[in-house]
Amino acid sequence: MKPMSSPMEVSHHHPHEDADRGMSEAISGQPQLASLSIPVADEKVLVSVEVCLKPSSTAQPDDIRTAVERMLEKRSMTYVDGPIPVPTDDLFLLENVKRILICDTDEWVENHKVLLFWQVKPVVHVYQLSEEGPGEEPSGDDMLASFNEWILPAKEFDGLWPSLIYETGLKQRLLRYAATALLFTERGVDPCLVSWNRIVLLHGPPGTGKTSLCKALAQKLSIRFKSRYPLCQLVEVNAHSLFSKWFSESGKLVAKLFQKIQEMVEEENNLVFVLIDEVESLAAARQAALSGSEPSDSIRVVNALLTQMDRLKSWPNVIILTTSNITTAIDIAFVDRADIKAYVGPPTLEARYEILRSCLEELLRAGIVSYPPQVCVGALLLSYSALKETLHTSQMDESDGPFDHSSLLLDAAKACEGLSGRGLRKLPFLAHAALKDPYNCDSNKFLLMLIETAVRELSESKT
Ligand SMILES: Nc1ncnc2c1ncn2[C@@H]1O[C@H](COP(=O)(O)OP(=O)(O)O)[C@@H](O)[C@H]1O
Ligand SMILES: [Mg+2]
Repeated sequence: MKPMSSPMEVSHHHPHEDADRGMSEAISGQPQLASLSIPVADEKVLVSVEVCLKPSSTAQPDDIRTAVERMLEKRSMTYVDGPIPVPTDDLFLLENVKRILICDTDEWVENHKVLLFWQVKPVVHVYQLSEEGPGEEPSGDDMLASFNEWILPAKEFDGLWPSLIYETGLKQRLLRYAATALLFTERGVDPCLVSWNRIVLLHGPPGTGKTSLCKALAQKLSIRFKSRYPLCQLVEVNAHSLFSKWFSESGKLVAKLFQKIQEMVEEENNLVFVLIDEVESLAAARQAALSGSEPSDSIRVVNALLTQMDRLKSWPNVIILTTSNITTAIDIAFVDRADIKAYVGPPTLEARYEILRSCLEELLRAGIVSYPPQVCVGALLLSYSALKETLHTSQMDESDGPFDHSSLLLDAAKACEGLSGRGLRKLPFLAHAALKDPYNCDSNKFLLMLIETAVRELSESKT
């Protein structure tokens, strides 16, 4: 049976005490938390190295990890975020590994520190993507699907984390928060003495990436905690769909759903993420019920959901992720339950620049947009910080191609003020569709069209 939900009881639930599967401890002697880049006692920085196996690979993750560690030891490289090539002389890795990715070094790089190999203690995480799509719960005849379910890490969310751009350290903060929560649980910290919970609330305007960020976070954690929790699942509940016109069925749905989640968390080696998206619709439903404009059924559903959440949160292996599209007047019951509340705002100039840069680079890669005459093929656009530096020192001469290229992109980013992240990621498509000669377009022409499209989109959104 499940432990009682009193905090004392939780402290007796030390899933890890007797187990000899100490996650990254086995390799680094450090708790899992340290896989985020914080200096360790001997002044080395722990850097996560994520190793994605090919779908066909049947190799033991431990063998791969050892091989990658050995490979990293041999190389005198600097550590920066991004992929590193699989060594061509290592047949074992070549056969099994799809990608090796260095993560979490950005803080160091931002401070203009270079991480050299001898300063780094790599923490290698090996995983394989699940190819299964979302398992949808058929919720009655022609009812809206009310929840989805994935095995993590899922192929579908591959690349999501790096594609979300916030320049405020938001992603790192969330990752650290969740890693700390899992570590405290892992070590059996007594919640009567130090309290914490595992509920996250992201709120902010629509289209700022909240839902995606929750999914990306779950994916990231499933990779980082693979050795402790071999099975990770994500269950997405769309709160809005619970209050569709079939809401009289919703009570049953909620009960059924949480019954299922309960079964998942009872297995202590499962890590379960429950995403309750758009919680503001719960608050709205409750309001409507209170004012008598909706049958009181809905209040029962909301209360059932809140009760279920409370029951779930006493389990150490659950993280509840919630989002809300409104920033004011979220049901107080929800706000109170969340431990970490993060505001997710519209993208700033830097974020807009970086989002558009990733779009443009993708179109250049795909050959849909060509390099302008003064820029050599394959040349990368400057990062925002590099561009700023160039602008600042004005070292470039006027005809410097790559610089022009990037500064036009900066103009586009400026023109996009007011667009959400979602709007920005759609803009290149709209701009391309508006081109007169779509088969012959260099990136300068394309950027001009992008600016034009942004202006149009913004003016249309105002009317
Ligand atoms: N800050 C951002 N950086 C990069 N892409 C973003 C950002 N915000 C939104 N997007 C894009 O918009 C899409 C939709 O975002 P979504 O998660 O549905 O937003 P929300 O849940 O806040 O309405 C994302 O998948 C992503 O492609
Ligand atoms: Mg959303």
